[in-house]
Amino acid sequence: MSLAHLIPSLEPKLRSLYQAHHERAKRIDWAYSEYLPLDELKANPESIPQLSPVVYTAVETAMLTEVNLPWFTTHLYAAFRGALSVMIDFLHTWTSEEDQHALLLETYLLLGGNGDPKRRAAMRKSVIRQGWATNIDSHFGAIAYTAIQELATQTFYLRVADIAEAEDPRLARALRRLAKDETLHMAFYRDAVKYHLEVEPNYVYPLAEVIMKFEMPGSGMPNYQERAELLAAKANYGPAEYYTQVIDALWRYWGIDQLEPTLARAREAQLKLIKHHQKLARIAARIMERRKKRQEGAAD
Ligand SMILES: [Fe+2]
Ligand SMILES: [Fe+2]
Repeated sequence: MSLAHLIPSLEPKLRSLYQAHHERAKRIDWAYSEYLPLDELKANPESIPQLSPVVYTAVETAMLTEVNLPWFTTHLYAAFRGALSVMIDFLHTWTSEEDQHALLLETYLLLGGNGDPKRRAAMRKSVIRQGWATNIDSHFGAIAYTAIQELATQTFYLRVADIAEAEDPRLARALRRLAKDETLHMAFYRDAVKYHLEVEPNYVYPLAEVIMKFEMPGSGMPNYQERAELLAAKANYGPAEYYTQVIDALWRYWGIDQLEPTLARAREAQLKLIKHHQKLARIAARIMERRKKRQEGAAD
């Protein structure tokens, strides 16, 4: 049994997911210029405030991830070669929607005079030149990876919007708008995975591999580790949120511990994945505990 390919009989269901995506996306269609205070800037060039280092780093990190879209499209296109045609159709729509993300973030930073645009341009170039070292190696692997990645990105935008609110509510609004796009993308891939698990629970085998090896697509950018640490400490987005809002949310949606795979290797993978899930839960609990103590300490 090939657990790499998508199940052909699911094509009509995937088509209707794609159709539903179109309808939802059309209802909230937007242009990046609507999220930039262009009129206000004409009257007052300083109407975009100077961002704090944390909010700046968060926006720059998001932009440097989104800017690598040419390679995400390239690799996903290659990954979906020979898959159901609906996947390529979705990929086209997805690319057209993602295209506005880096554009909005870069333009916001540029118009507000935040950061050094020359330095940023050099980093963008180096990110794109580097490409994307993905370990996606099958049609099913591609939908599973993308479901996790879209949900992680959505969660990240929402957390950053929370801390950006006090500095510039318009930035927070723009970030929440991006999060909405990511939510719709995530829903398509998440449900596509769910359908496969329902028809064939042995897909837990490739799914386990994707979850256990997951890395964000931006992990190759300059100073990624430092960025991740700063954002975990100051923007409430780190391993704790990755567990509670991404992995555990998908875990429950996909009902991973209730799956009943028939193949020995799939059962083994499920058990390994259950252990992995428990480990992430322990790490998240420790971080939350430390955070709570710090907050109580700060309140004294
Ligand atoms: Fe995006
Ligand atoms: Fe997305």
